[in-house]
Amino acid sequence: MTILVTGGAGYIGSHTVVELLQAGHTPIIADDLSNARADVIDRIETITGQRPVFYQTDCKDAAALRRIFSSHPIDAVIHFAAFKAVGESVKLPLKYYRNNLDTALTLLEVMEEFGCKNFVFSSSATVYGPNNPYPYREEMKAIESSSPYGWTKVMIERILTDYCTAKPDFSAVLLRYFNPIGAHESGLLGDEPNGIPNNLMPYIGRVAAGQLEKLTVFGGDYDTPDGTCQRDYLHVVDLAVGHLKALQYCAAHKGAEAFNLGTGSGVSVLELVNAFQSANGIDLPYTVGPRREGDLPAFWADASKAKTLLGWEAVHTVEDMCRSSWNFAKNAR
Ligand code: UD1
Repeated sequence: MTILVTGGAGYIGSHTVVELLQAGHTPIIADDLSNARADVIDRIETITGQRPVFYQTDCKDAAALRRIFSSHPIDAVIHFAAFKAVGESVKLPLKYYRNNLDTALTLLEVMEEFGCKNFVFSSSATVYGPNNPYPYREEMKAIESSSPYGWTKVMIERILTDYCTAKPDFSAVLLRYFNPIGAHESGLLGDEPNGIPNNLMPYIGRVAAGQLEKLTVFGGDYDTPDGTCQRDYLHVVDLAVGHLKALQYCAAHKGAEAFNLGTGSGVSVLELVNAFQSANGIDLPYTVGPRREGDLPAFWADASKAKTLLGWEAVHTVEDMCRSSWNFAKNAR
């Protein structure tokens, strides 16, 4: 299949492009490089021996998208391109709503013009909001979030669901990611946020590399087994493979369908810190500080729907995630 991958130079997008190429698909990357580096395309070529077609494009630019659709027989779109910093979205909500909603709507309009009917959407566990009990299951009411970033995911899920109702031959798969960490085994692709990282594993990587002094564990007094928050961390390569399974499902079905992509187990911050230390033989300085506003104590996926309907299941261990994260972070520039 020929697949337009928006945000294909980013963290999850680049790993997905590698899996697509290795499975014999033709990914076409559209990325404005606002939060990714151009040399990711070179690194994808080094890993796969194939250079994906790349357009430096803002997906809000309908004319640019039309040129891409005119030049390639696009069978499906995997839509990663979005702003994703939760804290920034609270401070700059209009930036997030404008970019994330406009991008999705522009893409859908151009897809309609060109008769493209398969859409895989990069959603998030954040759509379950603060009030659902865990493990999260897809049939739970998923119409809430705790940040403008999260609300854009809720809203785009809604837009896609309504669009599928109006267009019965359209297919949308909504992938609700839990917490992706880890990196490609080559050490060439990984999570490299600009500035000081907000997310746990990139922060751990910078501390391990000596670029930041120590990790602050946000809260040690939660009602969890060791007092720190629990999350469902999954390896980014497992997540990338989930997109291939979603594409197959998308091509064979109609309508909108949501899937959790997670491992189905919770791991605490301290468990992850300890796993990182023992997997890599590194001492990681940390202190336990106050809670971070907006964090939920614990959540993880019920991952059974993806296993049953997509034939997908996470296979990498927490140790794999910690080892590959460090293998990437220690060489990151
Ligand atoms: C957040 C978003 C999620 C998004 C994900 C990746 C929400 C509710 N969640 O998840 O939608 O997909 O980021 O971008 O909006 N921690 C520390 N110290 C640190 C950093 C983090 O202790 O320096 C802890 C946090 O308190 C949390 C865990 O590590 O318990 C994971 O945090 P993080 O990696 O930021 O992901 P989430 O907040 O779970």
